[in-house]
Amino acid sequence: MLLVDTHAHLNDGRFRQDLPAVLQRATAAGVRAIINVGFNLDSSRGGVKLAGRHAPVHAAVGFHPHEAKDFSPTALAELRSIATSEKVVAIGEIGLDFYHNHSPAAAQRTAFVGQLRLARELNLPVIIHDRDAHRDVLTILLEEGLPAAGGVMHCFSGDTAFAEQCLEIGLYLSLAGPVTFKQAEILAEVARQVPSDRLLVETDAPYLAPVPFRGKRNEPAYVSFIVQRIAGLRAEKPETVARVTSENARRLFGISS
Ligand code: NI
Repeated sequence: MLLVDTHAHLNDGRFRQDLPAVLQRATAAGVRAIINVGFNLDSSRGGVKLAGRHAPVHAAVGFHPHEAKDFSPTALAELRSIATSEKVVAIGEIGLDFYHNHSPAAAQRTAFVGQLRLARELNLPVIIHDRDAHRDVLTILLEEGLPAAGGVMHCFSGDTAFAEQCLEIGLYLSLAGPVTFKQAEILAEVARQVPSDRLLVETDAPYLAPVPFRGKRNEPAYVSFIVQRIAGLRAEKPETVARVTSENARRLFGISS
């Protein structure tokens, strides 16, 4: 199986000791490309460096809604310059998080809109984080328009009705570890219904490890468990899910490897 992990945070402290081994296991599991996703300026710069050192790694750069309080015109200018680095394939992760509320809602909206405009300007796709903010995320996307390069709702957590709305505006939907959890009836239904040409997979490592590693540190190699589970739900071969999700990732992010 050839796989693409479209969302990982490899510069998280939990990978400091053994990143080369983590990347080796990913390669052994068939993972050909990993998108390392930034959440502020430092992690975005770090992601670009990682991508420069490791062939399978690509970088998304951006301000997570948690960090939106630090978004400013100066920060935006800095982000723009980072975003023109080699191997940057997306702006992200950006969006709204009204579950944690680590930044005020107004600051989250400003950062989300500012970065959607940056993505449009640079013709890059967006990686969207949405936690307990389905309606507001959708409203902003409808007002601003999705950048022409498209985007993905990462770690999709809505129901089939919200999935429909996201698909309608052109988004890809990315499924992560939670689709393997026992009580994930709603996500299972989403996994069955997403059209093949809009489905992506991701680990969101080090968070949200899939079954049978739930609760442990997650890593890109485990994306294969997510693919197996989705294949079971869709009554398709794992190889088919791996192939279509890899093709989708290459198309959306313009990755050739
Ligand atoms: Ni993330």
